[in-house]
Amino acid sequence: MSIEVKVSSLRLKSPVMNASGVLEWSPIAAKKLVDAGAGAVVLKSTTREARVGYPQPRIVSVPGGFIVAVGIANPGADTVSTMIKSFKEAVGDTPVIASVAGSSLEEFIEVSSKLEDGGADAIELNLSCPHFKGGGLELGQDPVFVREVTRNVSSIVKIPVIAKLGLTDKVVESALKALEGGAKALTLINTIRAMKIDIYTKKPVLGHKFGGLAGEAIHPVAVRVIYETYKETRAEIIGAGGVKDWETAIELILAGAKTVQVGSAILYRGEQVITEIIRGIEKYLWIEGFKNINEIIGLAQRD
Ligand SMILES: Cc1cc2nc3c(=O)[nH]c(=O)nc-3n(C[C@H](O)[C@H](O)[C@H](O)COP(=O)(O)O)c2cc1C
Repeated sequence: MSIEVKVSSLRLKSPVMNASGVLEWSPIAAKKLVDAGAGAVVLKSTTREARVGYPQPRIVSVPGGFIVAVGIANPGADTVSTMIKSFKEAVGDTPVIASVAGSSLEEFIEVSSKLEDGGADAIELNLSCPHFKGGGLELGQDPVFVREVTRNVSSIVKIPVIAKLGLTDKVVESALKALEGGAKALTLINTIRAMKIDIYTKKPVLGHKFGGLAGEAIHPVAVRVIYETYKETRAEIIGAGGVKDWETAIELILAGAKTVQVGSAILYRGEQVITEIIRGIEKYLWIEGFKNINEIIGLAQRD
């Protein structure tokens, strides 16, 4: 039985990888993900300049998940570009996907180009962080910007460009524009803008006030967005949002995802969750009589 998938030119030995933001800047941590079975590793989003991120607290537990507002803390494109070599050495032939964030078209182009030079195997454009002022979803909610940034970055780099989109009313339109611009795949979805208030201090809990809701609570939204987007585009989709076990992973694949990313479940339970998901997927395929994971992609779309 095969659980190998191809996303554009990337060969993934399993359809499970981490979501951007939950892997520290540590090649050792990346190797642990790969040893656990990850088919690719995704780095945290990188901007042109280093960012310290938002004030603490940056994460709060809520029913069904977490609200996070890290604020794209990263050491900046030049440093990340030099670090990619050690990630590549640590993970062998497993693809390293670099995530790029920015506040302008020029920043997306410059950072993507630097991370390609550093050795990244693909670029995931973060067009969807719901609390990044001047960037993220503020830019990514405009389908025309999505097309322009994808077109420009795709014309500069040789490696596959993946557009990571978030929840907006125009997400399917944005997906079509990203593909028109040359995106080879889509990652759907990012966290959903959210807030928690402490009823005794009577103030928002997070240092940044707003954050992004991640985890189980957003899974049905991810299923719906992936289903609708796959229906309209038949694109290669990397599904994210509340994947916490093999059942939630299979659901995203049946909706149309080719591979899945695991975010908050790794924070919560460590990389072993990846191994458990992969074993569960294999068992499911065997019990259901499938020989290849590719046979079930988008299967829920049939009438
Ligand atoms: C602590 C944390 C940090 C994150 N940082 C990023 C990031 O830097 N870039 C990005 O595109 N998404 C980031 N995300 C969003 C995840 O990649 C993912 O899209 C989202 O959490 C949904 O997946 P989940 O429900 O499995 O957590 C972050 C999520 C968490 C929990």
